[in-house]
Amino acid sequence: MSQVWMIASGKGGVGKSFITSAMAAALAKRQMQTVAVDADIGLRNLDLMLGMESKVIYDVVDVVQKDCKLRYALVQDPQLPFLSLLPAAQMHCASDLTAEDWAQVIRRLRKHFSYILIDAPAGVDQGMQNILSCADQTLLVTTADDIAMRDAERLISLIRKGDKPSPMLVVNRIRADMVRSGYMYSPQTVALNLDVPLLGYVPEDPEVLRAFSRHQSLMDARCPARDAVERIAKRFMGEYVTMPQPKVRRQLFGFSG
Ligand SMILES: Nc1ncnc2c1ncn2[C@@H]1O[C@H](COP(=O)(O)OP(=O)(O)OP(=O)(O)O)[C@@H](O)[C@H]1O
Ligand SMILES: [Mg+2]
Repeated sequence: MSQVWMIASGKGGVGKSFITSAMAAALAKRQMQTVAVDADIGLRNLDLMLGMESKVIYDVVDVVQKDCKLRYALVQDPQLPFLSLLPAAQMHCASDLTAEDWAQVIRRLRKHFSYILIDAPAGVDQGMQNILSCADQTLLVTTADDIAMRDAERLISLIRKGDKPSPMLVVNRIRADMVRSGYMYSPQTVALNLDVPLLGYVPEDPEVLRAFSRHQSLMDARCPARDAVERIAKRFMGEYVTMPQPKVRRQLFGFSG
């Protein structure tokens, strides 16, 4: 049975696209048929994060408008046979697709994929709500600060009002040094405050930006953020994996999480 997950956040820029791309690659490496769907219409970027930008010809709006068949819009990862991408349109906006359009696309994807990970637009407006209506579950991404958490709270209340299961939480960009010195909430504190189950956390890691700059998947790098995503993917698939405390890493020029 396929699972449809919306990757969402209240505040923008907290790492939804990064988590979607890395989780999709991690699941595909475990031989799960996975599709990453870029639902951030008008602000396409999953193709770049997955290093597939040169292969994009059609997009989800072309599929909805019947300008091409779904199979021609799906981009196959050159290295991971179990990973595909359904790109967002660049020249449209979220309001160009209705909830029913999304429901039809997702219904067709369910026939071919075990995991459908949808990178939703930030915020709580109609674009996100259209995705919410056809997702089975939500993976909520936030950073550990009051601003992102307040926006996350708003999103959680909207999800609960919609009779959907409580979201699972990923706290991104954790800095162990700041958690220790009391300037940043721990992932557990964030989960407690938001009253949602913690699936995992990802440390702040310069490799994330390096991978993006090279248009490569983070999952090809060797770094703490990749290890954290691997653990999250295992939990996501139902494996029991312990959650290590954020580590302060000593570096030549100071500390990082
Ligand atoms: N764990 C991390 N460590 C370091 N940098 C990170 C981490 N996670 C995300 N970033 C950086 O944060 C930026 C925003 O990430 P991303 O584009 O995934 O956010 P987003 O939530 O999808 O944004 P938007 O709401 O605009 O779609 C990127 O430039 C990425 O390099
Ligand atoms: Mg994004």
